[in-house]
Amino acid sequence: MATLLPRAEIEDDVAQILLTPEQIATRVQELGVAISEDYAGKELMLICILKGANIFLADLVRQITVPVSYDFVAVSSYGADTKSSGVVRILKDLDESAESKHVLVVEDIVDTGLTLRLSYILENLRSRRAASVKVCTLLDKPSRRRVDVPVDYYGFKVEDKFVVGYGMDYQGKYRNLPYIGVLKPEIYGGG
Ligand code: IMP
Ligand code: MG
Repeated sequence: MATLLPRAEIEDDVAQILLTPEQIATRVQELGVAISEDYAGKELMLICILKGANIFLADLVRQITVPVSYDFVAVSSYGADTKSSGVVRILKDLDESAESKHVLVVEDIVDTGLTLRLSYILENLRSRRAASVKVCTLLDKPSRRRVDVPVDYYGFKVEDKFVVGYGMDYQGKYRNLPYIGVLKPEIYGGG
């Protein structure tokens, strides 16, 4: 693998590397093998939740050996105000119909579970008569869960720490880190 270039401006904010590019690649390949076995002979459609999951999707889809298509949705994040109303809007909907497809929703991280729950994405796909609806997340933070979300495939379970890199951000930054790192708490005003 090519040597990683230094990127001090953003790396100074990382307290610890949690998962190296090699660890991520190995696990993503394992997920691709499992998914390819489970969906053999079926019409698989990956649905990537923007923006955080796009790097995971790009790597995952290339480890899947059965015919597969993919599409993107974007949802509004739940700020303090939307939390009280319990509404997470779908900002960008599917371009293609999910009808009769076996749908696998691809997320970067399932934390509280509110994004998937409040956006009604899973229910929405079922009502559009997808043949099946499952969830694949790279990271799962089960200790933070507030609402029940079925996670069918996960890459890694992680502790309750704010992580960035490999597509995941803090205020739009750090997505381009090739590894997953723990952000220094002083950056986001955490404990
Ligand atoms: P949930 O709605 O709390 O399950 O969170 C889901 C979304 O919040 C993820 O798709 C991420 O975009 C974001 N998120 C949650 N935890 C983290 C984290 O540790 N780092 C970066 N983004 C996170
Ligand atoms: Mg996300």
